[in-house]
Amino acid sequence: MAKRKVTVVGAGFVGATAAQRIVEKQLADVILIDIVEGMPQGKALDMMQSAATEGFDAQITGTNAYADTANSDVVVITAGIARKPGMSRDDLIATNAKIVGGVVEQIARYSPNAILIVVSNPLDAMTWLAYKKSGFPANRVFGMAGVLDSSRYARFIAEALNCSIKDVRAMVLGGHGDSMVPVPHYSTVNGIPIPQLLSAEKIEAINARTRTGGAEIVALLKTGSAYYAPSSSAVAMVEAILLDSNRVLPCCVYLKGEYGIQDLYCGVPVALGKNGAGKVLELELSDADLKALQKSAHDVQELIDQLSALVA
Ligand code: APR
Repeated sequence: MAKRKVTVVGAGFVGATAAQRIVEKQLADVILIDIVEGMPQGKALDMMQSAATEGFDAQITGTNAYADTANSDVVVITAGIARKPGMSRDDLIATNAKIVGGVVEQIARYSPNAILIVVSNPLDAMTWLAYKKSGFPANRVFGMAGVLDSSRYARFIAEALNCSIKDVRAMVLGGHGDSMVPVPHYSTVNGIPIPQLLSAEKIEAINARTRTGGAEIVALLKTGSAYYAPSSSAVAMVEAILLDSNRVLPCCVYLKGEYGIQDLYCGVPVALGKNGAGKVLELELSDADLKALQKSAHDVQELIDQLSALVA
């Protein structure tokens, strides 16, 4: 099989860590591109010099030139600024729209058949922008958020129950913001829904911590935002695509009426494989969870309206 090529745009904390995880897992050769001269090249050299010890044959190349990204199979977009304490993801919108818009134009030009995974925040709005700017079909443009939010939720569930994280499956729907929707009835320990294992009060506390999981880390780091779990979540999506595994992962995808949400990017479970986002799975939700999801979608719509005015 021909070697696969993944481009990671933005060689900062999320991008460089994602690149490292991809080569260490030997999923593909990686092009790491950034606007800062020398930095992606330096990080790529450093990573290649860990190959002997880590034992990977995948290649990573740093660059500032989009020509080097040509014909990528998958492109992970992490370019942009990260939030600082007190900022919401939405506060990044104007700056990151300029950055992501420019990046996507270049990527679409050099890799017209690529699958785009957006990581830059505010996630749902940036994914919509990437869809518009690329002109790609919606199955090839989606965002990483649900895997991360669900992974945080899973961690808090395992912590509360003192059980192995390996037995926890967790589900978080909606936009990647304060109104995201952790769904306890679809979150299980080896198939047992967590409402059978934890009190309603404990679950509400875990849900609340999940919603603000990113902000908790921003407040501690003070100079940037989370990157270990975000990069691992993005790479889980890259892996599902490259291995054509049809894993069902919650991702920010374009909805055409599913869950009563029309023509909007929002987080729902979807099968990921070689053609990108496949079938959206429609869970049977309680009235309260469905309402919460639609409220979250409404918040995403407001942000996209704001963004449409900015990029008009
Ligand atoms: N083209 C390419 N890279 C760019 C561009 C551009 N036009 N503009 C900025 N960058 C690069 C920066 O030079 C920097 O190296 O994007 C990188 C961002 O890295 P960090 O500042 O370390 O931010 P990070 O923590 O990686 O977060 C990146 O992901 O999780 C989201 O909210 C987060 O939007 C943020 C993004």
